Amino acid sequence: MVIIKTEEEIQKMIVAGKLLAEVHHELRSRIKPGVKTIDLDRFVESFLKERGAYPEQKGYEGYPYSICASVNDEICHGFPGEYALKEGDIVTVDMVVNVDGWLADSAWSYAVGEISDEAQKLLDVTRESMYKGIEQAKIGNRLGDVAHAIQEYAESNGYSVVREFVGHGIGREMHEDPQVLHYGKPGHGLRIREGMVFTIEPMINIGKKELVIDDDGWTARTKDGSLSAQYEHQIAITKDGPIIITDQGDC
Ligand code: MF3
Ligand code: CO
Repeated sequence: MVIIKTEEEIQKMIVAGKLLAEVHHELRSRIKPGVKTIDLDRFVESFLKERGAYPEQKGYEGYPYSICASVNDEICHGFPGEYALKEGDIVTVDMVVNVDGWLADSAWSYAVGEISDEAQKLLDVTRESMYKGIEQAKIGNRLGDVAHAIQEYAESNGYSVVREFVGHGIGREMHEDPQVLHYGKPGHGLRIREGMVFTIEPMINIGKKELVIDDDGWTARTKDGSLSAQYEHQIAITKDGPIIITDQGDC
């Protein structure tokens, strides 16, 4: 069941979204060669707690950290740890912020120092594929229109779309209906209505779409070892089009 949100409820998520965007801004300057992914996790946890917010992923279905930090061929749900980022890596940081019971969810892929043209193109195409999806998220369209726009853009650039993880409704719970696929047919799927709030979070691989899960039970990585990127925004559907709840302002 899709839980439709009021304007007041959307405002509360915008408050959480602004804080989350601030965290991503902070991460931009902190992500550089030599930094351990566990340091990013510690930074985010204390930054949020100082502001009276909670990193919602911590403890969610047993997930042990405040962020997911997925490096290079890791698709999502990577554990932060002792790995020190090195020049040329890409790292996706995903997190969910809880402010007064209302949630905001956004993932962003970052370059570590100078990266290859190949990796930069993956970041650019993946981010753009998310925005192509967001453009289609308007009243009267269907979720298949969103899905198709993402898939079409990613595949026309020679990349593949991960199937196992999808966007989702969100509000007071991290995962609500509907599921928001990143591949599909235009004109199919649930009709988009005012007051829906959901994430669009394509995971795009340079190589094939298949994945494997590590022994930790969480970390998903490409089966063929190719690089993977992800961008995620949370949006609210209004009469005037989608509002990007987790907008970072200038990028
Ligand atoms: N933020 C992720 C999402 O977009 C959820 C990560 S799973 C968790 O749905 F368990 F780590 F929280
Ligand atoms: Co999400």
